[in-house]
Amino acid sequence: MNILITGANGQLGRELRLLAEGSDHRFVFTDVTELPGLPVERLDILDAAAVEKCVREHQAELIVNCAAWTDVERAEDEPELAMKLNAQAPGNLAQAALGAGATLVHISTDYVFPGTGCTPLREEDETGPLSVYGKTKLAGEETVRASGCKAIILRTAWLYSPFGKNFVKTMLRLTAEKERLAVVADQTGCPTCAADLAAAILQIADSGQLHKCGTYHYAGEGATTWYDFTRAIADVAGHTCDIRPCRSEEFPTKARRPHYGVLDTTLFRETFGIRPQWWLGALKKCLDRL
Ligand SMILES: NC(=O)c1ccc[n+]([C@@H]2O[C@H](COP(=O)([O-])OP(=O)(O)OC[C@H]3O[C@@H](n4cnc5c(N)ncnc54)[C@H](OP(=O)(O)O)[C@@H]3O)[C@@H](O)[C@H]2O)c1
Repeated sequence: MNILITGANGQLGRELRLLAEGSDHRFVFTDVTELPGLPVERLDILDAAAVEKCVREHQAELIVNCAAWTDVERAEDEPELAMKLNAQAPGNLAQAALGAGATLVHISTDYVFPGTGCTPLREEDETGPLSVYGKTKLAGEETVRASGCKAIILRTAWLYSPFGKNFVKTMLRLTAEKERLAVVADQTGCPTCAADLAAAILQIADSGQLHKCGTYHYAGEGATTWYDFTRAIADVAGHTCDIRPCRSEEFPTKARRPHYGVLDTTLFRETFGIRPQWWLGALKKCLDRL
């Protein structure tokens, strides 16, 4: 199968690159910028004509959109740019997929929900993003659905990997450097290892299940708070930092975040027969790689 990856230099994109090494599929890795040691074909997904050309020329049968505006805080200051990348650009990919008869796997987020409840969120639960980032990602989902292309939308959460910037890498550094640290304990979610998400996407393709279009939740199994997550990171790494739980108000941010963003993955598991790893087991494996 011809598989086109956008945003191939990001966390998810780089995990897909690693998996591609042992795969029989033909991959084309694209990104808006070129990084040393990471060969890519330049593709800005904001450029509709370039997207159409790339999909057509490579005869893409599957497009995995790993490109996005992921800086949640900066999105509050630059809502138009975030909206272009997270909502308009997926429309370009969806139109190109529609024209080529390809399937689009598009990644979304738990931040489309307000997170005011206390039970795991199902796909059909009412959305209501609190942040600009969440609004742009929800708009992206809607654009993809409205296009009529074959699409699998995967909402995920708290993504981390050995690559780029993420919470695990930040806390690994801070718990090594600092004697004391306060971490938010009133936000609950599902840490998700980007390697597991990448593997799940390829497993769906390999097992001939790309026709099962729809919106699904994929996240690390179980749930935790940023505080407990940090404790686990420090424990596994053997760091002795004194970590204290605190409220979100102690760390005022521009973007509001869901207090409870736990994703119910039942539909994903039952539809594709793939079970996400427990978040702590996945974390240990990622820390081993780091
Ligand atoms: N990170 C999380 O915690 C999290 C949580 C839930 C859902 N998600 C979703 O998961 C997906 C993957 O996230 P990630 O953390 O892997 O993202 P990431 O590491 O931020 O990677 C995104 C990639 O997209 C590239 N990109 C930016 N603008 C582009 C453009 N115009 N055309 C093509 N590529 C462009 C970026 O390049 P530059 O770096 O040069 O800008 C970067 O290489 C995203 O849809 C995200 O919204 C992430």
